[in-house]
Amino acid sequence: MKNIINYGKQFIDASDIKEVTKVLKSQNITQGPYVKKFEDEFKKKFKCKYALAVSSGTAALHLIGIALGWKKNDVILCSPNTFIATAASVEYCGASVEFIDIDKETFNISISSLLKKIKILIKKKKKIKAVIATDYAGQPSDWEELYKIKKKYKFQLVNDNCHAIGSNYKGKINYSTIYADAVSLSFHPVKHITTGEGGMILTNNKKIFDSSLINRSHGMVKKNKFYNGYYEVENLGYNYRLNDISCGLGLSQLKKLNKFLIYRKKVARYYDNYFKNIKFIKIPKICKDRNHVYHLYVLRIDFKKLKTTKKKLFQFFLKKGFKLQVHYIPLNIQKYFKKKYRLNKNDCPNALRFYNEALSIPIYYGIKSKVIKRFCSLLDGFVKKNQLF
Ligand SMILES: Cc1ncc(COP(=O)(O)O)c(C=O)c1O
Repeated sequence: MKNIINYGKQFIDASDIKEVTKVLKSQNITQGPYVKKFEDEFKKKFKCKYALAVSSGTAALHLIGIALGWKKNDVILCSPNTFIATAASVEYCGASVEFIDIDKETFNISISSLLKKIKILIKKKKKIKAVIATDYAGQPSDWEELYKIKKKYKFQLVNDNCHAIGSNYKGKINYSTIYADAVSLSFHPVKHITTGEGGMILTNNKKIFDSSLINRSHGMVKKNKFYNGYYEVENLGYNYRLNDISCGLGLSQLKKLNKFLIYRKKVARYYDNYFKNIKFIKIPKICKDRNHVYHLYVLRIDFKKLKTTKKKLFQFFLKKGFKLQVHYIPLNIQKYFKKKYRLNKNDCPNALRFYNEALSIPIYYGIKSKVIKRFCSLLDGFVKKNQLF
């Protein structure tokens, strides 16, 4: 079968295989020393007090919600321009989600819409428990503003950092744990580094760490009583552990993170330069005080002004061997949330407009320059062919 070019994919080399093989030949392939080694490297690199490896980014968000005590009648706010897992973590805890529209330039949560919604919720006497801000595509949200609002209205702040590992805000690589109470990361293969499946919680808060540590493994607490391995179940937790095989891979991948980020940035600069002057195409805008790490490179195309549709564009590219994607269908128009909260597609107009125009094009470490060049000229040709004027 012809090799299809996806919007993202992992990069695995001989050093990764060597590290995984080492784990496979060792005594413990799960709950062994590699988990702690992996966590320790994160603490060092991202300058935070606690790091907890978990089975996925989704598990990280769920454990954070449990640790922060989210429950019925709590309202948690997030943008609809994120993966389902962000809002699902709220639902798992039995709390309610409120969607806040996105900023027109960064596609992150909009500060002005957030403030408006907070005032409405306060009037309705709702309990605003937390805000989850996703650093969409790899560009940090407006963290200083979010932090000021958190202090004023006294809610918890979570950073869904699954797109943005290694980015920085105002020069700080540890911005996420400075401003947010807890941070989730994902190591799914399309992300910057991978462990197959996997995730991590970063925090400076001991209570969040302690709770997540216990709930990562069934609520079991090991006690030095009776015999080695004795434990008591303090509450009902989950099996959200990450195994040593994955952590071995993660350790080896983490060493390459900077190299991966530089490569992605080069690809992004190429796309920026190619598409910046093409009519009906808009390139991503980067705020001066933030570093965009391009988990996604999202172009916007004004399909209304072209005599074509996004569907036709996707079909055209599939025939040419490229599988494009859209990030994201706004969560407020996904069936589950629409039905449960009686939402309307116009509740978040910026997110809807963005969805109509956005497409994620290939970006990952190791993508060949001839593939990028071919993609660019195909898109250029498609747009020109479909121009009305
Ligand atoms: C913004 C965001 N949050 C959470 C997740 C969940 O991560 P995982 O797939 O590791 O569960 C993802 C993964 O795609 C994501 O993109």
